[in-house]
Amino acid sequence: MTPVPYRVADRRQESADTVTLTLAPAAHALPPFRPGQFAMLYAFGVGEAPLSVSGISGNLLHHTVRAVGKVSEALCRAEPGNWIGVRGPYGTAWPTPPAGDDVLVVAGGIGLAPLRPVIVESLARSGRLSVLVGYREPGEQLFPAELPLWRRRAQVLVTVDRPTPGWQGPVGLVTALLDTADCRTDRCTAFLCGPEPMMRATVGELLRRGVPAERIVLSLERNMHCGTGWCGHCQLGPLLLCRDGPVVDWARAGEPLSVSER
Ligand SMILES: Cc1cc2nc3c(=O)[nH]c(=O)nc-3n(C[C@H](O)[C@H](O)[C@H](O)COP(=O)(O)OP(=O)(O)OC[C@H]3O[C@@H](n4cnc5c(N)ncnc54)[C@H](O)[C@@H]3O)c2cc1C
Ligand code: FES
Repeated sequence: MTPVPYRVADRRQESADTVTLTLAPAAHALPPFRPGQFAMLYAFGVGEAPLSVSGISGNLLHHTVRAVGKVSEALCRAEPGNWIGVRGPYGTAWPTPPAGDDVLVVAGGIGLAPLRPVIVESLARSGRLSVLVGYREPGEQLFPAELPLWRRRAQVLVTVDRPTPGWQGPVGLVTALLDTADCRTDRCTAFLCGPEPMMRATVGELLRRGVPAERIVLSLERNMHCGTGWCGHCQLGPLLLCRDGPVVDWARAGEPLSVSER
């Protein structure tokens, strides 16, 4: 439970309110993280927040943080050389898709951050990769430095709710992009992260198209405190999402999510 000091080695502004921090251990690195897992990041004197890894390079951790409140704002203000406390790794990891399967990534806004490692790993695999992302506005787009590389190797489609002058892409819900997704629904693993209504709508469409519930995996968020399965804050039905999630397939998450919606 004691945070380990990590130094901010790099800070990259992704959009107006979102920053990617690269964190390097001061002395002792935490055990290796796997894509999909999360850390509790402690902004000294402010507080802690759960943040998924958006990349892992050796013992360097990358976290992409959207400023929404006091902890995430403090983390976004951190500059290279500043110190941050880190606990983890916590939770479940993204599964490895069966060899030869296509990969479909569907993200809403900051939900693209936990999915970034899935995209990076899938670019090196055989099989098709389709990335569908929905943002509220064009200015919220993440990872602009990496998009050209992704686009060379994968299908990347971006839609927005509210276009601004100059936007030439699609407008509307990310689910509308599913019709043009370059993946075989009978041989596809789908990775989802974003607002829950967006994930529910996407799951409904994927099930209708024949993707099995076990092949639809989601990263879920709940209020988290301990991160270790002790306090019960992150309960979703029979699941403690810090321990049994955040990555859960629809076969396990569907029922408790439907109950929590009622
Ligand atoms: C497993 C897990 C992984 C996460 N990964 C990431 C990540 O990679 N990048 C990232 O930017 N955020 C991520 N989050 C969300 C992040 O933890 C919260 O944004 C953060 O805890 C907010 O804390 P705060 O003190 O800054 O804001 P608070 O003061 O706690 O909240 C400020 C406002 O934001 C709203 N808010 C708080 N938490 C959330 C949330 N989870 N979703 C939507 N609105 C929220 C509150 O209702 C309030 O209106 C993750 C959450 C979980 C559980
Ligand atoms: S955050 Fe404490 S049990 Fe999950």
